[in-house]
Amino acid sequence: MSKLPIIEPFRIKSVEPIRMTTRPEREALLAEAKNNLFFLHSQDVIIDLLTDSGTGAMSAEQWAAIMRGDESYAGSPSFGRFEDSVHDVMGFEEVIPTHQGRAAEHLLFSIFGGPGKVILNNTHFDTTRANAEVSGAKAIDLSCLESGDTASLFPFKGNMDLARLEAALLEHGDAVTLVMVTMTNNAGGGQPVSLENLRGVRELCDRFDKPLYLDACRFAENAYFIQQREEGQADREVRELVKQVFAMADGCTMSAKKDGMANIGGFLACRDKQLADEFRRRLVVTEGFPTYGGLAGRDLEAVAQGLQEVVREDYLAYRAASIRYVVERLHERGIPVLRPPGGHAIFLDAARFLDHLPWQQYPGHALALELYLEGGIRACEIGSVMLGHVDPETGIESPAHHELVRLAIPRRTYTQSHMDFCIEIIDAVFRRRAAIGGVTIETSPPVLRHFGATFGRSAVGAVTAS
Ligand code: F0G
Repeated sequence: MSKLPIIEPFRIKSVEPIRMTTRPEREALLAEAKNNLFFLHSQDVIIDLLTDSGTGAMSAEQWAAIMRGDESYAGSPSFGRFEDSVHDVMGFEEVIPTHQGRAAEHLLFSIFGGPGKVILNNTHFDTTRANAEVSGAKAIDLSCLESGDTASLFPFKGNMDLARLEAALLEHGDAVTLVMVTMTNNAGGGQPVSLENLRGVRELCDRFDKPLYLDACRFAENAYFIQQREEGQADREVRELVKQVFAMADGCTMSAKKDGMANIGGFLACRDKQLADEFRRRLVVTEGFPTYGGLAGRDLEAVAQGLQEVVREDYLAYRAASIRYVVERLHERGIPVLRPPGGHAIFLDAARFLDHLPWQQYPGHALALELYLEGGIRACEIGSVMLGHVDPETGIESPAHHELVRLAIPRRTYTQSHMDFCIEIIDAVFRRRAAIGGVTIETSPPVLRHFGATFGRSAVGAVTAS
């Protein structure tokens, strides 16, 4: 049995056509989009790996649940099913729906953030950092040492560095209002956090009397990695591991567009009733009444069902295998790719892929543009364009931790032949890598600049302006 391939544990009931484009068409489309892949129309993309967020296929049961959606403004039974499902899977009593993850973050930092406050996290995702900083707080990343090495095979590269966490808690004292753990660690390569590490974080939070919240977007993928990679956990069910993980936290923010298996939705959950009521009072002002929080009843139903499906072991085994398949083939061909494979995406190491380009020429963005030109693949830079820091006073820019290109795989959407196509396209770009030039930022918004910046492309050997 073990030699048989792991197959997609579903069959396809409804399909969407893909429009094929030619290279000259893509050249023109990219120029029109000012070299920002977010500005492309999705019908001009062949394989869209920009994100795994809200882009997955829903199951027949989710579509059926959508028909059951009750759109009452207050007290909808759809909210009851949503709340029960979150409680059943994660164990939290207080569940506050939001239209997506960043709205939950905004709500969370409306209380824990603010000027002079410090938020500690293994790695803040871009929206989490933006929400913390917009509130006036300082967001500090404390990822483990191994996460800095894209070739290290350490199984839990999403871990928090416990020594640095302790040092930060000592240094910032009362200013620290919240410790967060992002699982899996998206910006750090979709890498998991181990139970042991989370236990260590919890102990420090207890010692320093700080609340611990999880950024739980990909909690099921994380639990599957614990089962597969952590000593002593192989015989435990994912559902049980999920419960154990959440039992260590005081609350969580969640984007249901990821492991909620839905196209929209999110929530903030916690144990403290008083705090939850304060969140609810604030929720009404921006998101809506606490029994829908910016979502339609049908969306609540899709998430309720999705949370039950995402913890199924056959689904998670397929999900991990589909990412591993691509990572291993790229690695076999000598293409620099982040290992071990993460949970939701393939991360190309653009700093090594285009090692003739310094970070100031944004190798990640340059590579993402080439993948589109070569094969109509839309990926996303997670490097110095997205995460580089520009000092507001001096205007001096510092680079991100890594220069990565993320090919995020939407859930249950693409087949193995789509992945084979991607491998060939990446390989073709790799073979002509020496002729690829860098990019320059031409215009840039002040926050989340990757969404709105426009770029120029330069020829190989172009000198970087200092
Ligand atoms: N936290 C993490 C770890 C995320 O990956 C995201 C979204 C969010 C929070 C915010 O959730 O989009 O529902 O508001 N990540 C998407 C991505 C956008 O492409 O990785 P949201």
